[in-house]
Amino acid sequence: MFPLAERMKLVSESITLAVSAKANALKKAGVDVVGFGAGEPDFDTPDFIKEAAKAALDKGQTKYTPTPCYPELKAAIAEKFNRDNALPYKPQQITTGAGGKHCLYMAFMALLNPGDECLIPSPYWVSYPEQVKLAGGTPRYIRGEESNGFKITPRQLEEAITPKTRIFLINSPSNPGGHAYTPDELKALAEVVARHPNLIVFSDEIYEKLVYDGLKFVSFATLHPSLLDRTLTFNCHSKSFAMTGWRIGYIGGPQAAIDAINKLQSQMTSHITSFTQHPAAVALTDPRGAQSVESMRQQFEKRGQHMWQRLSALPKVTCVRPLGAFYCFPNVSAYFGKSAGGVKITDAVSFSAALLEQNHVAVVPGNDSGFDTHVRLSFATSQQQIDKGIDRIGEFLKKLT
Ligand SMILES: Cc1ncc(COP(=O)(O)O)c(C=O)c1O
Repeated sequence: MFPLAERMKLVSESITLAVSAKANALKKAGVDVVGFGAGEPDFDTPDFIKEAAKAALDKGQTKYTPTPCYPELKAAIAEKFNRDNALPYKPQQITTGAGGKHCLYMAFMALLNPGDECLIPSPYWVSYPEQVKLAGGTPRYIRGEESNGFKITPRQLEEAITPKTRIFLINSPSNPGGHAYTPDELKALAEVVARHPNLIVFSDEIYEKLVYDGLKFVSFATLHPSLLDRTLTFNCHSKSFAMTGWRIGYIGGPQAAIDAINKLQSQMTSHITSFTQHPAAVALTDPRGAQSVESMRQQFEKRGQHMWQRLSALPKVTCVRPLGAFYCFPNVSAYFGKSAGGVKITDAVSFSAALLEQNHVAVVPGNDSGFDTHVRLSFATSQQQIDKGIDRIGEFLKKLT
């Protein structure tokens, strides 16, 4: 056995990987798979952002940069936080990382001590618990019930806080639930946090621009005067600007936390890629940035409503209406215990595997998000694909007896 580090035992093998590997193998073999698995926009990065990247290369921005990033990008991010979020971060309170994922990882590493607990509402994005464990912390879950639109209540939060709780993580709009808290609901949670002065908040706001049905987005750190000094606000270009592959994430937060993250990053990756920094700044400051985000948002809203209506019309399937991000997260547990094509369905993984195998639709089982009764479907795909895929799901369900 090759001698791996003990910490590798902390990271779980993703049980959803088998399903996505199978989907890829089927596609390669020429099978017409309808893919609802992707966690990324199907749009391309807007042209003016690509042009800015070419200009950065032509200007010679190809060398090492300061760890947080070039001053131009720091200033653009601080301006964005002030303008869009009423967050008065100064440029020195900003840092960047290789996507939202790397930003979160660095922050857990910089702030968690062994035994510290991080409260994570479920359903949750798959990487949170793994990152907390790698940083020596312990994930603790607060279940967002489907009957409450997957949202946790202030009482649940209050009851979950112990002397060991160091971080409360909030992700609204959310992956995979597609839910988003109203400003009043968030404020009620903020008031609980305000009563616990040792608690730090991580607010993962990467889906902030993708909200529907007139919902107003507010940044958590603005909701109580005591929160700005103990909240880290995470954002990225991946979802809003269709830039998943560019790996641009950023954090605004208390100076001591940002300094610690910079220290860590200076010994890790040094900084994000030099020639992505100018286009990242342009995306935030050029008015075409906001226009392209809004045009994508409108299309996602239409597709999300359509997918939700179609899923809700399937027999015995329940689905919370998506108010943000680009996911529907239906409950398929009424079919557990039934069989199709000789395969017994026992949980979301076996449901997803049989659906893929027999009717060629790829969905993500909710097991790695704390919900083995639900599957995630991304509506970052065309309406035609949505109809085709849900027709197939309907046929699959009919076979289950
Ligand atoms: C809730 C949430 N946070 C963070 C991330 C990470 O984003 P990035 O692709 O910028 O690393 C994702 C990506 O799917 C996500 O869904």
